[in-house]
Amino acid sequence: MARGAHLQVDWYDEPHAYDIVFAEDTRAEGRFLVEMLRVHGPKPKRGGQRRALEPACGSGRLVCELARRGLSVVGFDLNDAMLDYARSKLRARKLRARLEHADMTNFRFEGRFDLVHCLVSTFKYLLDEASARAHLECVARALRPGGIYVVGLHLSDYSRATASQERWIARRNGTLVTCVTRVEPAQRKSRLERVRTRLTIERGGKIARTETRWNFRTYDARQFARLVASVPEFECVALHDFHYEADVPRSLDDARADCVYVLRKRARALSPERRLFRASARS
Ligand SMILES: C[S@@+](CC[C@H](N)C(=O)[O-])C[C@H]1O[C@@H](n2cnc3c(N)ncnc32)[C@H](O)[C@@H]1O
Repeated sequence: MARGAHLQVDWYDEPHAYDIVFAEDTRAEGRFLVEMLRVHGPKPKRGGQRRALEPACGSGRLVCELARRGLSVVGFDLNDAMLDYARSKLRARKLRARLEHADMTNFRFEGRFDLVHCLVSTFKYLLDEASARAHLECVARALRPGGIYVVGLHLSDYSRATASQERWIARRNGTLVTCVTRVEPAQRKSRLERVRTRLTIERGGKIARTETRWNFRTYDARQFARLVASVPEFECVALHDFHYEADVPRSLDDARADCVYVLRKRARALSPERRLFRASARS
């Protein structure tokens, strides 16, 4: 490989670098999720431990954070390197959680959860409407009535013609990771955007450069609202942004780019008439 070139990899096969890059917000996200549960979630069962589920839990940074905050946590992912890393983090911190290999479009776990969450645009890995809906239906089945699903994703601006780029630099125990993520303009017709992440990992005088490319499904505010409305178990009860300030909600029709939606499972399903009305309003 030419000097300075990037090795093509799946960056989720490098959980350590991923974990270092995303560590910064973990405490704020954990605090925010617990607060969303307190404000919008179901009443705790007397003496019972709150239960949280994280689809696509990755390196387990939030699994550990919520377990540390006293929740009973289940996480799952498709990438075994990520799951192994998450298990070793739990062991190192003497925390307990259940971790499984499973797909976001088709999962079922024993018992019901108070909170399900999926942050940092991971929802956009569901590449078509059928997968996104199948996922929401699995989440609805997993939640207690009144339970909440917190979904954070970056909305697309289809009028934008240029790529956007973000850069993060983070260090842990002598490893320095620079992450540059570039997103090409969202395509309204295909509902896809091309994403490229480049990692530069520096440790002990050695430098590794990797690159990962993938597609994300795109949403603007209307498209996301339409998807949620197609799953009658859910209502949207709050909107926040990536600052994770529980006491600073945005108005529900705010369409700015970084959105964290709080969806609540209705205590009672919609009546057949109301379902019919919603379906005809959508078409
Ligand atoms: C951006 S990471 C998010 C990890 C974690 N939720 C967090 O907040 O740090 C995305 C994760 O989604 C996983 N993933 C992608 N598609 C998936 C699917 N269909 N089912 C389960 N996991 C999936 C990847 O393996 C990766 O670990």
